[in-house]
Amino acid sequence: MIKRPLKRLAKKALINVYKSTHGDAGAAAAPTYDIPETLGQLQTKWAGALRDIYATPIARPASLSPAQGGLLRSLLINIRPATVVELGCFVGVSTIWIASALEENGEGIVHSIDLFDPVVPNPPFSTTYLEDPYEAALKNIETAGLSHRVELHKSASADMASVIPRLLTGPIDFLLIDADHEIKGCVEDFELYHPLVADGGYIMLHDINPDKCGWDGPRFVIDNHIKNSADFELIELPTSPHNHGIALIRKPAPRAGRLDTGPINKVEPPSAFRGLNRAWGFVRNILNV
Ligand SMILES: C[S@@+](CC[C@H](N)C(=O)[O-])C[C@H]1O[C@@H](n2cnc3c(N)ncnc32)[C@H](O)[C@@H]1O
Repeated sequence: MIKRPLKRLAKKALINVYKSTHGDAGAAAAPTYDIPETLGQLQTKWAGALRDIYATPIARPASLSPAQGGLLRSLLINIRPATVVELGCFVGVSTIWIASALEENGEGIVHSIDLFDPVVPNPPFSTTYLEDPYEAALKNIETAGLSHRVELHKSASADMASVIPRLLTGPIDFLLIDADHEIKGCVEDFELYHPLVADGGYIMLHDINPDKCGWDGPRFVIDNHIKNSADFELIELPTSPHNHGIALIRKPAPRAGRLDTGPINKVEPPSAFRGLNRAWGFVRNILNV
C-alpha cells in the first residue's frame, strides 16, 4: 500500500530535478531525425506508427534512426529469416522495422527481450521520462498492425538465454544485440546468444563507434570476440545521421543450411536442374556431407 505512492513520489522528484536543471532544453537538444522519403511517403500502418514515434523525443537517440531501420528492414527482406531475436526493444522502434520486413516476407516472428524498466532522463542518452516502456512498446506495435509478428519478453536478456530456445521452432536466423551497452553486459549477451544462432545466420550489433555513441560494449565485442576469429565474418557499416555504426556478423555455414537454400530466396532453379538438385540433396543427406 505504501510502496506505490513512495515510488511515484520518487519518480516525480526525479522528473522535477530534471526539469529544474534542464528545463525543456534537454528535449530540445535531442538530435532530430530526418524522415527519408521511403518512410515519409509510405501509407502503411507501420510506417505511420514509426513516423509518430520519431516525432517524439523518446526515440532519439536511443532507437535505430530511420536510415538504420531502413537498412535493417532491407536486409531482412533479402535474408528472409524465420526466427529473429532482438535484445533491447525499448519502445519498439527496431521491433517494428523488423516485423515490417517479416510481414512483407509473409513469414517469421521476432522475439524481443527487454527489462522494460522505467526510462528516466539521462542526457544525452535519453531526454524524456517514461514510466512503462512495455506498455508503450505493446501499443506502438499494435498501432503498427504488427502484433501477430512480435512476442515481447519482459526479462533480463541473460535470464532469457536458457528459456528462448524452448520458445523457438529452430535456431535463431537473425539476432539483433542492442540491450546493455556496457562491456560486461554486451559480452555476456554475445556469449550467451551466439551459440543459438544458426550456421549461416546473422548477428547485428548496434552502436559500435564509442566516440560517436558514447558506449564501448559493442566495440569491445567486435575487437575481442569477432575480429580475427575464424568463427565469424564481419562487416562494419557507417550509419546516418550520427554514425553510431552497425556491425553485421555472419556465422559461416559449413554446408548449405536453411539460410543458403532456394526456399529462402524463393528462387527455383530451371526445371531441368530441379530433379538433379533434389537427388544431390538426398545423397548429401545420406552421406552427411
Ligand atoms: C538502446 S535501447 C534499444 C533500442 C531499440 N533497439 C530501438 O531501436 O528502438 C536499449 C534497451 O536495452 C534494454 N536493456 C538494457 N540492459 C538490458 C538487459 N540486461 N536485459 C534486457 N534488456 C536490457 C533497456 O531497457 C533499453 O530499452
